[in-house]
Amino acid sequence: MNSSGQTVHVDLGSRSYDISIDAGNLPLIAELSRSWLGRSPDQPLRCFVVTDTNVLQPHANAVKMALSGAGAEVRVVCVKAGEVSKSLTEASDLYDELVDFRADRKTAVLAVGGGVVGDLAGFIAATYARGLPFVQIPTTLLAMVDSSVGGKTGVNHPKGKNLIGAFYQPAGVLIDTDTMATLPDREYRSGLAEVIKYGVIQDSDFFSYLEENISGLNERDPAVLRQVVSRCCELKAQVVKEDEHETTGVRAILNYGHTYAHAFEALSGYGALLHGEAVSIGMVCGSRLARSLGRIGDGEIQRQVELLQAVQLPVEVPEELLTKHDDILSCMLLDKKTVFGDLKFVLPDRIGHVDTIGGIDSKMIVDCLADSS
Ligand SMILES: NC(=O)c1ccc[n+]([C@@H]2O[C@H](COP(=O)([O-])OP(=O)(O)OC[C@H]3O[C@@H](n4cnc5c(N)ncnc54)[C@H](O)[C@@H]3O)[C@@H](O)[C@H]2O)c1
Ligand SMILES: [Zn+2]
Repeated sequence: MNSSGQTVHVDLGSRSYDISIDAGNLPLIAELSRSWLGRSPDQPLRCFVVTDTNVLQPHANAVKMALSGAGAEVRVVCVKAGEVSKSLTEASDLYDELVDFRADRKTAVLAVGGGVVGDLAGFIAATYARGLPFVQIPTTLLAMVDSSVGGKTGVNHPKGKNLIGAFYQPAGVLIDTDTMATLPDREYRSGLAEVIKYGVIQDSDFFSYLEENISGLNERDPAVLRQVVSRCCELKAQVVKEDEHETTGVRAILNYGHTYAHAFEALSGYGALLHGEAVSIGMVCGSRLARSLGRIGDGEIQRQVELLQAVQLPVEVPEELLTKHDDILSCMLLDKKTVFGDLKFVLPDRIGHVDTIGGIDSKMIVDCLADSS
């Protein structure tokens, strides 16, 4: 590992853990896992690695080699890539594998992949034998800056996404930004929407840094990536520290752009919009809503639009959704974060700060789908 690696500490009392971030630190997985799990080099290490079909070859195999080379006993289980694997059926198959591997409470579960693998592996780690130690090795930008930090694990139910799950913090997170080299362009850009979100909700200096480093972002410059991933992890860690179990309302700020985005994702048909693409459009709609309420002016919207467009994210609601006002409102009302029919929106009052606002007129909400400036 080169000396510029960074560690972000997630401060959660007895559930605290470190996120180790660098380019090329994957080979350190055995050493780091031992330290996170409190195992000395002469103690046995058994690892159950969950990955998916796109991540197995380049990255999960490298993790396996590093672990085996350090004397660990390793089983790699590969699930089909995609959201379909976040299911109770898949979880059940993994429990069978854990039984077959004779896993006990000393066996560590390692997730090597994007948010799907992280959420699924975290869920089985949380539930098998009432909890196995868990290590995250996120390989998508979204997983690095969002899903691997904060302890939300779970699977989908046919009636709802992430409906079955548990808060379960990992023992540690290893982020090797080099793993993003194989990430498809659209997936990478989709992750950038969440990155930009952190700037708007929490950190105007970080937003300016992104504006000043557009070519580094587009070219996946290693130094820029390390800086970006580290700052996002710090920002998310702050929120999680204040509201680990989503009870105080602080964690809700992470939903900026998401009330609109969830409706766009649900209505645009499977796969038409990636999550981050929907969030990008959702943030623009949310900003227009903030403007309608007199919270921000045109300038704050323009800065977001320009940054999102500079990294080639969509900013306008797809034509076919523009007039679906009733469908969009009913989707928003069905969202599990809606409380008793009162839609709440996370809205900026400047770049770097947001509040949660309820009681907004429905017409105003749908009027913000189209650009009226
Ligand atoms: N737990 C949380 O707090 C949280 C937060 C946000 C999202 N999520 C969940 O995360 C999931 C989305 O995560 P995602 O966007 O990472 O999706 P994903 O895990 O499906 O990964 C996206 C695609 O990229 C592929 N991939 C992953 N890493 C790769 C790499 N390095 N090279 C090549 N291909 C690679 C995957 O196989 C997949 O096809 C959703 O299920 C969502 O609910 C969870
Ligand atoms: Zn999101």
